[in-house]
Amino acid sequence: MLEGNRVRAVHGTLMHAPVAGDVEILEDALIEIGSDGDICDVTVPGAAGFAEKLSTARSSGSFVSLKPGQFLLPGFVDLHIHAPQWPQLGKALHLPLNEWLAKHTFPLEARYADVQFARTVYRSLVETLLANGTTTAVYFGTIHAGANRVLADLCLAFGQRAFVGKVAMDDRDQCPDDYRDPSPQAAIEDTDALISYIRDLPDNGSGLVKPIVTPRFIPSCSDPLLEGLGALAQSMECHIQTHCSESDWEHNYVLDRLGRTDTRALQDFGLLGRRTILAHSNFITDDDSDRIVAAGTGVAHCPLSNFYFANSVFPLRAMLDKGVHLGLGTDIAAGPSASMFDSCRHAIAASRALEDGVDSSQPAETRGRPKSRIDFRHAFWLATAGGGVALDIPVGKFAKNYQFDAMVIDLNADASNVIWWQDADSLGDVLQKIVYGATRANISQVWVGGRSVAEKPCG
Ligand code: GUN
Ligand code: FE
Repeated sequence: MLEGNRVRAVHGTLMHAPVAGDVEILEDALIEIGSDGDICDVTVPGAAGFAEKLSTARSSGSFVSLKPGQFLLPGFVDLHIHAPQWPQLGKALHLPLNEWLAKHTFPLEARYADVQFARTVYRSLVETLLANGTTTAVYFGTIHAGANRVLADLCLAFGQRAFVGKVAMDDRDQCPDDYRDPSPQAAIEDTDALISYIRDLPDNGSGLVKPIVTPRFIPSCSDPLLEGLGALAQSMECHIQTHCSESDWEHNYVLDRLGRTDTRALQDFGLLGRRTILAHSNFITDDDSDRIVAAGTGVAHCPLSNFYFANSVFPLRAMLDKGVHLGLGTDIAAGPSASMFDSCRHAIAASRALEDGVDSSQPAETRGRPKSRIDFRHAFWLATAGGGVALDIPVGKFAKNYQFDAMVIDLNADASNVIWWQDADSLGDVLQKIVYGATRANISQVWVGGRSVAEKPCG
């Protein structure tokens, strides 16, 4: 890793959401970053030693001072991305989930037997997500060993904090012949091999890229495969990701096949733990959410994807209030946006639709589900610190011993859509406007673990 690429201190106005539902804005603060990329200290003007620290930082050489109109935010944690679906972004969103998978998604994913194709697509994906401020990405790969290794290599080379999973799917009825693991044993061995490959990568000593055990979802996996992956994840102390109770079809398929909900079945297979991320979980029962809370499992809420494929709105507020570890996911490409700002906006809009209801022919009193709304504060927390909690890694806020994963938002960027009235907007208003209106055009600089990973020429 190039030392010249590293920042040791940043001076400017910081905006973050250290706890759910609350934001904190620190004006003209100083963040000091250690050689491991972690935050050594956050000091505000007026605090003891501030002036001395600032002058030492200024002379250190790797110091950045934000300009007027620039603000420092934590990088985004995207808890749910299908890397191979990147070429499909914004396509084929008219079908129900099972048809979308069979007609569009599996044929596309089968193409990653071609490692060169994988290299081209994955390079574009990792570069684009970093430019959009996604500093931690949780990826589903494909069944192919070569393509999955390429994805891990690229994340490391570009400096993106990432979890990379070999998708496991062996069910003969649910998976096509040309895109299926040949047996449970083969899928388990390939998963094991990718875990070792990622952990042993040269330059990955800090664990920037981590493996994640990835049964696609119960319908595409046999019972022996699910059981074997549960045991493997436990013995290798590895994260786990899968889809859970996503749509009517998927939820009912599992009830019919196993006589239990996804959550209960995953728990029985040893796949529900503190290091597990469940995508969606729209149809979980009260008993399921009790189990999820007790296990400390994380849920990736993917609001945009849910509008197309989940047949319902996830009860986000109720699950937050219950204590479920929650973050946001784009669910590329079932969700047709690479931007976690869009995930924030859709999470807010979905929660409002759930609260008020959507069918105007129904009486107002029974149209919606009361007390379901979240606002921009919760959305921002979910996309940053909430995702870090769900993964149990120290990212998503500006605090001592957290990794310096951050982005500079520039409201004076040429193509900015954020309209800022300096004499009318408080800094709280500015943050709200950023969450509602910022785009990639506003992101002038991104750091992961203190390393510069995306920078606009005049940022
Ligand atoms: N369930 C199983 N596979 C997928 C997928 O690729 N996307 C979504 N949204 N749901 C799934
Ligand atoms: Fe998904």
